Amino acid sequence: MAGRFNNKVVVITGGGSGLGRAAALQLAAEGAHLSLVDIKMEGLEATKQQITDSGAAGEILLLTADVSDEAAVQRYVSETMERFGRVDGFFNNAGIEGKQALTEDYDSSIFDKVIAINLKGVFYGLKHVLPVMKQQKSGYIVNTSSVGGIRAVMNQIAYGASKHAVAGMTKDAAIEYAEHGISVNAIAPGAILTDMVIGSFKQINPNDWESAAKEFVKENPAKRLGKPEEIGHLVAYLLSGDSPFLNGTIIPIDGAQSAKY
Ligand SMILES: NC(=O)c1ccc[n+]([C@@H]2O[C@H](COP(=O)([O-])OP(=O)(O)OC[C@H]3O[C@@H](n4cnc5c(N)ncnc54)[C@H](O)[C@@H]3O)[C@@H](O)[C@H]2O)c1
Repeated sequence: MAGRFNNKVVVITGGGSGLGRAAALQLAAEGAHLSLVDIKMEGLEATKQQITDSGAAGEILLLTADVSDEAAVQRYVSETMERFGRVDGFFNNAGIEGKQALTEDYDSSIFDKVIAINLKGVFYGLKHVLPVMKQQKSGYIVNTSSVGGIRAVMNQIAYGASKHAVAGMTKDAAIEYAEHGISVNAIAPGAILTDMVIGSFKQINPNDWESAAKEFVKENPAKRLGKPEEIGHLVAYLLSGDSPFLNGTIIPIDGAQSAKY
């Protein structure tokens, strides 16, 4: 099957669930070879099974790594290089929400954990993938920020800090590497129905997360949650190289939520 990603290699962190899995399915359908990274093997294996069931023919490498550990990040990059010899696209996506609380009640150890994964994990990914792409003189990176990276979100001081930082790092890396044929953009999703968002609604209403979700979407102009596959399509477009001059941008994908406030 001809596809935009035939013979291209894409690394995805957080590939064992949610947005990472949706992007993996989309890219595999378009011919990509994938290096899927996650802290847990179980989710990675489920993603691989779904890709195999879909009939996609690209190779799939599964790697466990904690993105907040720089040595583990170096390892997932070097193991990808050993297997495939290049990295054309990188979806630098793994992240966690943390616990919701007012700033004065926010547990400092959870703050540190959110920053370690969402901010430092994205930094380490950039630090170790960019030299590979620089050597190739081409590459496309998508970092996962959030609506919480461009707007305020209640009770999520660490998440907001980390996702604003992802937006900042995206712009910095973009201006440093544009002359090397590399584009670095970020997506800023609103609430997309994944395990992380279900967990978030459970924090709001532990007994009935679906009511919390219904309440939440009333405020969204589209009156619904986003679907992971909608993110998969945007990520595939950004990694495809169809618009290489699109660089250093933070793209909301949120049913117009961020335009409203
Ligand atoms: N779902 C949404 O509404 C939404 C909105 C905005 C931003 N995001 C962001 O999208 C990204 C993906 O979230 P999701 O909704 O798919 O969540 P998810 O929980 O479904 O998937 C996240 C994946 O990341 C993995 N992961 C967590 N910590 C890790 C670590 N230290 N090292 C390696 N892997 C790790 C998890 O095991 C999981 O498979 C996150 O950065 C999240 O902040 C999600």
